Amino acid sequence: MSDLQIRIKQAVAKAAVEQIRSGMVLGLGSGSTAALMIEALGEKLRQGQLENVTAVPTSFQSQVLASRLGIPLVDLNHVEAIDLAIDGADEVDPGFQLIKGGGACHVQEKLVASAAHRFVVVVDASKLVDRLNLDFLLPMEVLPGAWALVRRRLQSMGVECELRIAQRKAGPVVTDQGNLVLDARFPGGIGDGAALERQLNSIPGVVENGLFVNLADQVLVGEATEQGIHVRTLARPDGP
Ligand code: 5RP
Repeated sequence: MSDLQIRIKQAVAKAAVEQIRSGMVLGLGSGSTAALMIEALGEKLRQGQLENVTAVPTSFQSQVLASRLGIPLVDLNHVEAIDLAIDGADEVDPGFQLIKGGGACHVQEKLVASAAHRFVVVVDASKLVDRLNLDFLLPMEVLPGAWALVRRRLQSMGVECELRIAQRKAGPVVTDQGNLVLDARFPGGIGDGAALERQLNSIPGVVENGLFVNLADQVLVGEATEQGIHVRTLARPDGP
């Protein structure tokens, strides 16, 4: 990642942290932008600008980072609701449909986003697309004993898909839940995410797919302009 990309991600992460209030229960996303958000939150807590927040992590990554920064963590089963969840995304379309799961964390990310009163997405402008899945493949978490079966089923629907292979470890990526990931390309991309999300999750062996539909309330977009780094706020198209 270039220095400019890091500064853009830091700016958008910081803008999201400005929405956090003392006493909130938070959802902490995963990925590089979410990690910068967790660092910015840790810094505000350290400086006493925020207090009494508790947070539900969405991955091993966010759990370890948050504990290192002294952010009090709580299990999803032990909270009634989450006030605000903040997370990155791999693609965002004009209807606020998202593809997530680039870091293979979308199972817990979707649980946390759906339990949140408010879900804020932090991205740089390269993540904004007219149509999902033309570039970024859709991640699907699948049970290890069913990956080939699910792949055959998807192939019979005309979907190209590949098992995600790990780097610096022989064999496949294994998720925080101990499952595998198939990355799928749908012919012509993805328009109606809601119908597809239901259809994919009804395939036996699929744990969860990376389509996030009707979840995001706000998207913060970081970008470099001639005036410097700027954060744009996109409101939900069908929102209040
Ligand atoms: C992890 C995710 C991430 O939020 C997504 O991949 C974006 O990551 P980054 O901020 O590093 O671009 O969904 O499963």
